[in-house]
Amino acid sequence: MHTPSASGCAKVILFGEHAVVYGQPALAAALSKGARVHVVDDAAALTVEIPEWDVTARPDDGTRLGEALAAMAAVLEERAGEPPGGSLCVEFDVPVGAGLGSSAAMAVALARAMQPEADDALVLDVAAASERIFHGNPSGVDHTTSTLGGILRFRRGDEPPCVPLVGVAPIRLIIAQMEPGADTGEMVSGVREWLDREPEIVTQLLEWMGALTGQAEQALRQGDTPRLGRLMNLAHGALVSLGVSTPMLDRGCHAARRAGAWGAKLTGAGGGGCLIALASEASQRAVVEALEVEGAMRVLTTWAGAGRPSK
Ligand code: PMV
Repeated sequence: MHTPSASGCAKVILFGEHAVVYGQPALAAALSKGARVHVVDDAAALTVEIPEWDVTARPDDGTRLGEALAAMAAVLEERAGEPPGGSLCVEFDVPVGAGLGSSAAMAVALARAMQPEADDALVLDVAAASERIFHGNPSGVDHTTSTLGGILRFRRGDEPPCVPLVGVAPIRLIIAQMEPGADTGEMVSGVREWLDREPEIVTQLLEWMGALTGQAEQALRQGDTPRLGRLMNLAHGALVSLGVSTPMLDRGCHAARRAGAWGAKLTGAGGGGCLIALASEASQRAVVEALEVEGAMRVLTTWAGAGRPSK
């Protein structure tokens, strides 16, 4: 028995959420936090335990996690020739269900723990099988970012849809979960209704958000973090216009800016969940405190766009 561990990164969407559904580019960044899987007993039958939720799952035990395990095991068996086993334990160091890609981080860490020799292509396929169980028809951005690390540009219809931005330095991000996350599908439907009601102006807004993502990529490549922060403020304004922000997310963004952040925006689907803030090293502490005072459920400071996760 030995206890190797494997990890998968969580992610944030830096720019372009919602607009990405309509073919605009988005930028996603892997976080240096996410999910870690320990092999408790590699001789045992396949079992996954998540102590934080008091859950233990086995393939085909009728639970969603069991179904995901079965789907992952099937891909591994087909590609690696033998069914995976082992008693595995999952730990998270990001909030779960808050738009940070925790399910993808878990799937990637599980894939790596079940098949330590797996290359990225296999990890991506195994994690995709799990994400399909949890999310139906996922865009792929979460598990791709989790597997490859770094910062990626994602655009539906491009081949491949996710391209790593090479040579871009990681940024230090403050992430605050301001309230429980909302259902992504419902938030996406809300934007669709808005678009159906005001097609011309909302289409322009979505295109404008795509242009903003292009500017943000430029700022990232130039290492111009103050400008990146300003662009975040503009992006938050667009997301407010799309109707996906909440008073709590808005208050958090204002508090972060007042405390000296260059910029802050909601990240992901909105309707609750997390915001991200970008601040100089000298201001980070004040920003974290301001978010806590504003009532954030959890605030973490982490590298976004960090390199490959450890195996
Ligand atoms: O809920 P998250 O953080 O995975 O983000 C959803 C992103 C959307 O653009 C709103 C939806 C999508 O499928 O891209």
